[in-house]
Amino acid sequence: MLNLDDKFDRYPLMFGPTPIERLARLSKHLGDRVDIYAKREDCNSGLAFGGNKIRKLEYLVPDAIAKKCDTLVTIGGVQSNHTRQVAATAAKIGMKCRLVQEAWVPFNDAVYDRVGNILLSRVMGAEVELVDAGFDIGIRESWERALEDIKLKGGTPYPIPAGASDHPLGGLGYAGFADEVRAQEVQLGFQFDYIIVCSVTGSTQAGMVVGFAADGRSRRVIGIDASFTPDQTRAQILRIARNTAETIALGSSIDEEDVVLNTHYGYPAYGVPSEETNEAIRLCARLEGLMTDPVYEGKSMQGLIDLVEKDFFPQGSKILYAHLGGVPAINAYSYLYRNG
Ligand SMILES: Cc1ncc(COP(=O)(O)O)c(C=O)c1O
Repeated sequence: MLNLDDKFDRYPLMFGPTPIERLARLSKHLGDRVDIYAKREDCNSGLAFGGNKIRKLEYLVPDAIAKKCDTLVTIGGVQSNHTRQVAATAAKIGMKCRLVQEAWVPFNDAVYDRVGNILLSRVMGAEVELVDAGFDIGIRESWERALEDIKLKGGTPYPIPAGASDHPLGGLGYAGFADEVRAQEVQLGFQFDYIIVCSVTGSTQAGMVVGFAADGRSRRVIGIDASFTPDQTRAQILRIARNTAETIALGSSIDEEDVVLNTHYGYPAYGVPSEETNEAIRLCARLEGLMTDPVYEGKSMQGLIDLVEKDFFPQGSKILYAHLGGVPAINAYSYLYRNG
């Protein structure tokens, strides 16, 4: 066990450990070759529908408070789940919030910039700035300008990069996730053979790679790329994993081979679902009542289903699908799903 709570301050934003649910009907539909479970990170908090960023932000908030910041500043696409979770966190801890939302997705539903995540962020009082720049998970000039602007106006910004990933504390949340899973495995009486996770900005998978290194399962964390710029995502996962391993004094090194990133399901672009992604979203929704979104979890669900069908996993494997949230974005794809 890593026992991160002994070494790092954590500001509780989640309800507690997230539930693990067996997906019996999906497993049966796929021939009961494997046993599929979902870890419900999408239900992790009361903060505006929650999601994976809330788990990461638990470690950033104490730092923001210690540095006496008054404004959380972050960046994402127009329908970013991350920016919505930062807006909710800022409201909860009594800080202001400034969001830079770039045009990362070439998708033009009439209500794309009005509904879903961006609507929630606006209602929660965040200052939203729309910027006409394309997809890039790196450090962005628009975000640096927002930070400068706040300082010029006398504020004290707390910088949170895209996805809370490229931040010294960004990998801690999902390193801790591994401890949480280990404790639940004791209750369940078995260990998971594989963990499926959607990757874009990288710190979710990076944290898991570090967390599961403690029991030799890093390479059993199968990332499904949804960025469609997988080289950048893979490099970022490796960098964050190595930094996180150092931060928590893991005591063993993270190798390139520890980052397993499947690049077959991100097409045709970040934020644009393929027909196969949509089929996976509908299948899972109709068998399990489990909603996934067209940007992230629909793609990792598509990957999971396809890999099971291709017998990638040995018979009888126990698979944990990390459901990282993101469903509010589906509202921005209203035309696509007008008939279900
Ligand atoms: C719902 C959802 N799934 C997956 C991801 C990918 O996580 P990460 O950016 O840490 O790779 C994100 C955020 O980017 C997300 O909002």
